[in-house]
Amino acid sequence: MPRDWDAQTYDRVADPMARWGAAVLDRLPLRGDERVLDAGCGSGRVTEQLADRLPRGRIVALDGSASMVESARGRLARFGDRIEYVVADLGAPLPIEGLVDAVLSTATFHWVPDHDALFANLAAVMAPGAGLVAQCGGFGNIASIQRVLATIGDGWLGAVHFETPEATTERLEAAGFDAIECWLTDEPTRFEPGEPFETYLRTVVLGAHLERLPPNEHDAFVRAVADGVGEPAIDYVRLNIMARRAVSPRRG
Ligand SMILES: C[S@@+](CC[C@H](N)C(=O)[O-])C[C@H]1O[C@@H](n2cnc3c(N)ncnc32)[C@H](O)[C@@H]1O
Repeated sequence: MPRDWDAQTYDRVADPMARWGAAVLDRLPLRGDERVLDAGCGSGRVTEQLADRLPRGRIVALDGSASMVESARGRLARFGDRIEYVVADLGAPLPIEGLVDAVLSTATFHWVPDHDALFANLAAVMAPGAGLVAQCGGFGNIASIQRVLATIGDGWLGAVHFETPEATTERLEAAGFDAIECWLTDEPTRFEPGEPFETYLRTVVLGAHLERLPPNEHDAFVRAVADGVGEPAIDYVRLNIMARRAVSPRRG
């Protein structure tokens, strides 16, 4: 299973993801009665925006982190049984009953190591013609942080997967999608200096790095990254994805 996250802190600091998520959600055409999979729902801030647009619909809120799903359950309680909660790995076949009419995913795909498996797993639970609207870290994402990480400790850059639009288009075609559009957007983002920036780095960017270190080394590691970056800013690059589960699978 993917690692667990500090869901409470994530929910508090995830303003950039909630803002980007709102823009991604605007690209998902909805009647209001569909069943939609939120693939990597996190603490549910974007899921909540989605639920407001589905007054007669249902959501499968899926995430690999049990703490994130618990946090989402609390935030989304007012929607009652219109939300199904699933703790599962997007890199493995998804334990979802029936098919969904659409998939939304924000700030998640780059954490999944095998994108061929990811897209095949999504396609397997999507009705023919269902839309996929997603955004994740793309090629060149957080390059200034990666440059600093390369100089610290063993130089591990993290288990992240920042893909190009071209490679993603090919993977989506191979997994049975059509009407594919993929593109990159720069989203440089500034933070309050000091503790707020360090808390953000610790919670959102460096979780996998900190898991490899003893707890008494966490503060120094986070500070070394913050100092190395210099400005309290992150050069985010987002990979945007729009695609449709093909009605008839391609031949040959
Ligand atoms: C940055 S959060 C994004 C959450 C939410 N979509 C948002 O925009 O706020 C990334 C989420 O991806 C989840 N995740 C990472 N790898 C995953 C995997 N292999 N399967 C399922 N979820 C995964 C994490 O647990 C985390 O909740």
